[in-house]
Amino acid sequence: MIGAHTGLTEKVLAYKPIDPPVEEIQPPKDRAFFADPRKKSLLSAVTDIKHLTPYIGTELVGVQLSQLNEKQKDELALLVAERGVVFFRNQDLTLEGQHEFTKHFGIQDKDPNQVDPRHVTILGRGGDIRSYEHASSAFAEFHSDHSFEINPPSYTLLRIVKTPEPLGSNIPLGGDTIWTSQTALFDKLSPTFQKTFEGLHAVHSSEHIFINTINSGGTTFRLPVRTHPVTEQKALFYNPAFVINIAELKGYESLHTLNFLREHLHSADDLTVRWHWTAGSVALWDNRVAIHRAVPGGYNTEEREGKRTAVFGEKPIYNPKGKTLSEWLRERKRDELPVIKTGLDGF
Ligand SMILES: [Fe+2]
Repeated sequence: MIGAHTGLTEKVLAYKPIDPPVEEIQPPKDRAFFADPRKKSLLSAVTDIKHLTPYIGTELVGVQLSQLNEKQKDELALLVAERGVVFFRNQDLTLEGQHEFTKHFGIQDKDPNQVDPRHVTILGRGGDIRSYEHASSAFAEFHSDHSFEINPPSYTLLRIVKTPEPLGSNIPLGGDTIWTSQTALFDKLSPTFQKTFEGLHAVHSSEHIFINTINSGGTTFRLPVRTHPVTEQKALFYNPAFVINIAELKGYESLHTLNFLREHLHSADDLTVRWHWTAGSVALWDNRVAIHRAVPGGYNTEEREGKRTAVFGEKPIYNPKGKTLSEWLRERKRDELPVIKTGLDGF
């Protein structure tokens, strides 16, 4: 048997990709550019705005995504860019409606592994996440979706249709998702580390996870810092699931730098929001500035099901004149809420 340990099985070696290699695309202008920074149209349609943490995550209450007009969708895009992820419960969105809704934000992203080209079915994750196989395949690790692609997704929507119950219980519990702000992760680095990371390149690879679809992205060198095209905020663009080393560093330098980044991310409870799913709830996140992780295990994984749709983002850009989150917040006008301005360091 060839390479049983590495995953290079006969089947993988014989695999002929069905799609041609992916080429760079120019997505249409980000819809958030068209939004009123005060988001009056969107916010007048909701009954409540719940900021779930200071740095990331807002829930909009009393509104149906299926009823939003073009203007409100543009304002929602800006809110998502600013807050990382925006949540809704009790949505009447159908799968068809979700496809239509997603189209507003750009060109439909095609996951390299999805069967239906319009969405990905997301299921539960269980098993022993601490086993060697799982740990080495980044099975349950934080990630931003498809960062190894030339155009990783920007606006990404997950609608959960079925929620799980722990084994032996009838209480819906388990399968939560957590998101961490990468703009805040960058902001919290010392100026010395910020500068250092701005001068490096992370090597993103899908090979260890999607070994038979490496033509969908293969290996990409990119800065571990990116600038959001609309807010111009600088964000860490770290991804422990797909970054395999740092191009400019020697072996152990790279290893320990990545270990530092992983610890920086995994200890960032203050920059993180955790969402408990209920059937019909939706999360819309900006995959460029928020990293996420499905909390695995402890429930019947077959009972969790969601549909994910996304649009292609720009090829990640870096603008040295971009702003850190703290700088951006200092420049905000108070009536450009809803961004929490109190409770943050220095405010
Ligand atoms: Fe994901």
